[in-house]
Amino acid sequence: MRKWNVVLTGFMGTGKSTVGRLLAARSGYGFVDTDELIVARDGRSIADIFREDGPAAFRRWETVISQELAGREGLVIATGGRLMLDEANAAALSQNAHVFCLTARPEVVLDRLADDDGRRPLLDVPDPAQAIERLMEERRAGYGRFPQIYTDNKTAQQVTEEIIQCIFAT
Ligand code: S3P
Repeated sequence: MRKWNVVLTGFMGTGKSTVGRLLAARSGYGFVDTDELIVARDGRSIADIFREDGPAAFRRWETVISQELAGREGLVIATGGRLMLDEANAAALSQNAHVFCLTARPEVVLDRLADDDGRRPLLDVPDPAQAIERLMEERRAGYGRFPQIYTDNKTAQQVTEEIIQCIFAT
């Protein structure tokens, strides 16, 4: 029987990569972080891809990676914050996956991303708090299509447990 994947989507700083790693360790599934995969393939940081080739080049990478991962199984896939908002990416990855959207309030996101590692050029702006509010608003409907997992005031372990319970319940 085919093993499903688990796909985590949601805004930057909602804990997709941290929770994804824990989930993979708990389930014995493999773990893939799409941002890391793109950096490994391209050979440049996300900030450099955005600066040198523009955001569209990064989004093209996301399309390539989504199509590729859709053919795999038994993976926990932590996706970049916008990847699953693209219809084609979402259609490809949703075929054989439980998809969860992690959420957090804007101020929690700002706090969690205080020590950013350069993988979020969209927030490398003079007023990141305002950028977070604006992007969240723009993306609200897109994220809202997926089952929501609230992460405010929860540890990554608690969020992981919640997702495991949801998967067992389906
Ligand atoms: C992005 C989120 C980032 C990364 C890139 C763009 C976005 O990933 O893919 O900076 O548009 O939301 P994380 O969600 O893992 O921070």
